[in-house]
Amino acid sequence: MLRDRIRHRPLMDKLVTADEAAAMIEDGMVIGMSGFTRAGEAKAVPLALAERARKHPLKITLMTGASLGNDLDKTLVDAHVVARRMPFQSDPALRKAINAGEVMFIDQHLSETVEQLRTGQIAPVDIAIIEAVAITEHGGIVPTTSVGNSASFAILAKKVIIELNLSQPTTLEGLHDIYIPSKRPARMPIPVVTPESRVGLPYIPIPPEKIAAIVVSEKHDSSATIQPPDNDTRAIAGHLIELLLEEVRQGRMGHDLLPLQAGIGTIANAVLHGFIDTPFHDLKMYSEVLQDSTFELIDAGKMSFASASSITLSAEMYQKVLPKLAEYKHHLVLRPQEISNHPEVIRRLGLICINTALEFDIYGNVNSTHVGGTQMMNGIGGSGDFARNAYLSIFVTKSIAKNGAISSVVPMVSHVDHTEHDVDIVVTEQGLADLRGLAPRERARLIIDRCVHPNYREALDDYYQRAVSRGGHTPHILEEALSWHQALREKGSMRG
Ligand code: COA
Repeated sequence: MLRDRIRHRPLMDKLVTADEAAAMIEDGMVIGMSGFTRAGEAKAVPLALAERARKHPLKITLMTGASLGNDLDKTLVDAHVVARRMPFQSDPALRKAINAGEVMFIDQHLSETVEQLRTGQIAPVDIAIIEAVAITEHGGIVPTTSVGNSASFAILAKKVIIELNLSQPTTLEGLHDIYIPSKRPARMPIPVVTPESRVGLPYIPIPPEKIAAIVVSEKHDSSATIQPPDNDTRAIAGHLIELLLEEVRQGRMGHDLLPLQAGIGTIANAVLHGFIDTPFHDLKMYSEVLQDSTFELIDAGKMSFASASSITLSAEMYQKVLPKLAEYKHHLVLRPQEISNHPEVIRRLGLICINTALEFDIYGNVNSTHVGGTQMMNGIGGSGDFARNAYLSIFVTKSIAKNGAISSVVPMVSHVDHTEHDVDIVVTEQGLADLRGLAPRERARLIIDRCVHPNYREALDDYYQRAVSRGGHTPHILEEALSWHQALREKGSMRG
């Protein structure tokens, strides 16, 4: 069985234990590890590294594709291994360490990390640790449930450690499309012209001599932790579907729409789920992560193809999808995250991009990352890659959070990830504001009327009226603009 998966025979000599592989990592190294939205991360070596660090302390810079599963970030943080972390995370223990200033977190557009590595703008990767389902006859690495940054990490690293995961089905082979942009200044256009375009190789091409160790693992990916749709998320989906039906009525697209991108998390998943009961058909996705909703849409005959960088599913959906992967494979491709999130491709395909805000303000600026303006939640992820280059840039959120103590629509956002210039549509369960072609004063009117929770509408309208009386293209009362956040911090509620 192992020989079927390690098809470049000389590499059989590189089999070692996780402890032996972890011993190759030295204090101060930059480690590039596979893993994207809790899918396809190396699992055994980082755990062995944490174990080793408990006895012999060391610090590393850890780069991944995005978030990790199996509590790896927590385990590494508890063992004080992580000095710097990029470009995304979603782990409560790591979040705490970041907000305490113990871990330096570089919150980065997901398409950008490997561009900076490739051009030497950030410290180079010493060792790449990549989960694989197989190694080809020529030493090519076949990734598992995510591609993320794995291809460029492996190509650019000095050494590569492979975690060969025997629990990942061999039917994953053939799912991936590894395309690496050519060098500047003579870089060619990326030839992805439809979500289905296959433009690269089904494996990561590296010289086999770079593979320093192979560790066998059987640990599973963690399942997704998203909540099922509720009344609010169903209402958000309803508003959004009405908007898209209007796009069709206006003749801007057909019932197959333009390709969809949906962000991580409960709300985005629920919104996509809502497409099941619509007249739309032959839908396609060009996104970064495929959640349960993608497979529900494929099963319902609504979606014909989905391109992304990872597959992250609930436990029940994993059980359903993995045994039938050979059938689903015709509908799917996994790409490096710099391609799934590439501005050139996003703009060419004209994506409908649905991402989640923590809060947005009366002019449509969006905060997706910082609670109360200072506390990191997860990171910007791919939301900026998609929002700025979308055909339609949509942000969704529930109008209130924490039992109504927080209004997600505020006078001024406490941190800006997506400026008003990158945001076309904002949606809450209360309603939808289509901001296209509107000036700031028009945007504010619409947002206050359509999106704010009734408990906060009067107060927000009052703020806006008083701001307008002071004049300005984008009226504000600067000394009061963050007073709602101040009230939350001091009194536990934005209602004061
Ligand atoms: N202020 C403070 N907390 C807020 C808030 C606000 N305005 N709005 C929501 N929250 C809290 C919720 O109460 C919830 O807290 P809990 O975990 O303690 O229950 C948490 O934030 C998550 O909110 P939820 O409503 O469940 O949404 P979600 O699971 O869809 O996540 C984001 C929302 C914004 C955190 C998440 O989508 C994210 O990290 N986005 C940025 C990255 C991104 O968009 N990537 C995708 C690009 S493809």
